[in-house]
Amino acid sequence: MPSQPAPAPRDLPSSVQIVPGEGGLPLVRVTGRAGSAEVYLHGAHVTAWAPVGRQPVLWLSAASRFADGAAIRGGVPICFPWFGADAGHPGAPAHGFARLLDWALVDAREEQDDVVLALGLADSDATRASVWPYPFDARYTVTIGERLTLALQVTNRGHAPVRFEAALHTYLRVQDVRATEVAGLQGAPFVDQLAGPGARPGEHRPIRFDAETDRAYLGTRATTTVHDAGARRTITVAKDASNSTVVWNPWIAKAAAMADFGDDEWTEMLCIETCNIRDDAVDLAPGESRTMTAVLSVGG
Ligand code: BG6
Repeated sequence: MPSQPAPAPRDLPSSVQIVPGEGGLPLVRVTGRAGSAEVYLHGAHVTAWAPVGRQPVLWLSAASRFADGAAIRGGVPICFPWFGADAGHPGAPAHGFARLLDWALVDAREEQDDVVLALGLADSDATRASVWPYPFDARYTVTIGERLTLALQVTNRGHAPVRFEAALHTYLRVQDVRATEVAGLQGAPFVDQLAGPGARPGEHRPIRFDAETDRAYLGTRATTTVHDAGARRTITVAKDASNSTVVWNPWIAKAAAMADFGDDEWTEMLCIETCNIRDDAVDLAPGESRTMTAVLSVGG
């Protein structure tokens, strides 16, 4: 269990409330001086964020499920301790167990104009029965303000080295993905996850979307900028201690095939995922910690 007890409601700053969310799941609602956000304890899932005076930055599907055992579709799912299907274990849930479990709120405070939440998850009977049965502590610090800072710290609490993958699988809202360009990953080699395992050489141009796109850029710490022409804004995703970035849009057929994704919603989103996956998976010695951070900001 997380090492710190949850703050009592009377200890929460006035900018933080815990209310029943969709499906009755506990929701932390933040109304800070510089930004607002919604965070479900289920999956430690940030489902909404907007700086004051700005339109929502994160995308959330109108068809999302909000239920125990199901991942929320949109916002920022935490993929941990594996990414995608676990090839060696066909029955394992996609993207790991972290987005399916209830995290604890262990701290909530104001720091100048920002609101800082900390959520915790540790190994349990459920995780020890999974394909990744190791002792661990995860602490997720969410700083809500003019920027959104997401910091996932994982500590190896066991006596043997462990290896894990992680992703902050950020769904961004855009006016129309077909008029959106993603810059920053030029030159970085990538695995086209729709084509096969081999890495392809980097491209010289920013990414544009005219078909299903599912690319894992490896060995890159680059900042990514989303140019949303329709909304006349840019969304920037900077990162720290993250060596991979996934770019995903399901396009028409895959959107239609997903029960928790509206058939026409693919036009209004794309994912820029701050990751350590595949060859960039993290090795932790006993007692060691690693923190991967994504920082979102809006301009234009
Ligand atoms: C992306 C993967 O990160 O997540 C895609 O690269 C996958 O292959 C997508 O389809 C959504 O995954 P899920 O498990 O949330 O449906």
